Amino acid sequence: MPLTRKAYRAAILHSIADPAEVGIEASYEYFEDGLLVVDNGQISALGHASELLASLPADIEITHYQDALITPGFIDTHIHLPQTGMVGAYGEQLLDWLNTYTFPCESQFADQVHAEEVAGIFIKELLRNGTTTALVFGSVHPQSVNAFFEAAQKLDLRMIAGKVMMDRNAPDYLTDTAESSYLESKALIERWHGKGRLHYAVTPRFAPTSTPEQLTLAGQLLGEYPDLYMQTHISENLQEVEWVKELFPERKGYLDVYDHYQLLGERSVFAHGVHLCDDECARLAQTGSAVAFCPTSNLFLGSGLFNLPMAEKHKLNVGLGTDVGGGTSFSLLQTLNEAYKVMQLQGARLSPFKSLYLATLGGARALRLEERIGTLQPGTDADFLVLDYNATPLLSYRLKQSKSIAETLFVLMTLGDDRTVAQTYAAGNLVHQR
Ligand code: GUN
Ligand code: ZN
Repeated sequence: MPLTRKAYRAAILHSIADPAEVGIEASYEYFEDGLLVVDNGQISALGHASELLASLPADIEITHYQDALITPGFIDTHIHLPQTGMVGAYGEQLLDWLNTYTFPCESQFADQVHAEEVAGIFIKELLRNGTTTALVFGSVHPQSVNAFFEAAQKLDLRMIAGKVMMDRNAPDYLTDTAESSYLESKALIERWHGKGRLHYAVTPRFAPTSTPEQLTLAGQLLGEYPDLYMQTHISENLQEVEWVKELFPERKGYLDVYDHYQLLGERSVFAHGVHLCDDECARLAQTGSAVAFCPTSNLFLGSGLFNLPMAEKHKLNVGLGTDVGGGTSFSLLQTLNEAYKVMQLQGARLSPFKSLYLATLGGARALRLEERIGTLQPGTDADFLVLDYNATPLLSYRLKQSKSIAETLFVLMTLGDDRTVAQTYAAGNLVHQR
């Protein structure tokens, strides 16, 4: 195959470490007039344009973006494909919201044509918002995952997904059995896991909707294949936490249910974790598990405020999740806007560079993919965004007042949304152009 080499010139910013570990100044690299060189879908060089241009052949194709910032693609560590049609459903908290809105909406995925239609809309929406990798819940139907992976494969996206396992406490039309969920998950793993840039996640919905038999088989699947992911929900809502105690009285608490069935580990991502206690954070960190912080959802469903400083204290891996349709936006910029307010309400700060970290490298680390995505380091996949400083009249005017990249970044996260994402590239291909 002939080498395809392209270069992109703009202001360029990426996270290279967690500000909580190295301090803000050592956590990022910024090139005011930068150059990103891409060879066959991978980044081959990053630096100051003035230094790199001289080393490139005279005939290389260079795309110059003015008034724009190149960043790594965003990483959404928690989102639901089959809830696309019910974002912004009125009036309920978690358990009633599931019964009233979520389960009926997810039931439509029994229909293959519906699954394909929504998968197309969903992936377009991710890319419009600058999300190049997501950890995705399907519905209980295998066709939801087939439809999603087929659409993702066509665009060579790095994506992770799994079929929901749910064999109790849900309507009959939406439950599987311990055995059928095991066999259907296994077939999906055989078909998709490790194919190109796709990965499979074993997906028990949450402890209340799985029998002990199903949780046992979920743990068994994780042992049968290397590098499988596990995704579920934990300690999102106080009523939910109490319900888990009633359903599993023999366990020490919510996390201990998952621990008992061997669902913790380096590729396990637990969504929400709003009501985790200190010991649970410590155990999650000890096992290398990660938590998805989902601020728009936690506010919208009235679930509570995630304690990021406590997670940091335990060196727990944290990624950002939109949690659509409990969350109200596909935009990780808007998600960061809400994350900032969640910290404010707890008397804490969320610096723009910590925010950038959470949306990129932090998410990659939560998914153990930092060698491939989350930064613009040479050797990684060319998944990156072009953010437009003139996306809206207000953004344009506001950014003209900015005195630093820190201020610019913070304003992008406060005023920005899908309109801010002018281009999205995945594996070096232009997959969204506003
Ligand atoms: N807990 C169990 N299922 C769900 C879901 O679909 N969304 C959210 N936010 N929490 C859950
Ligand atoms: Zn969720």
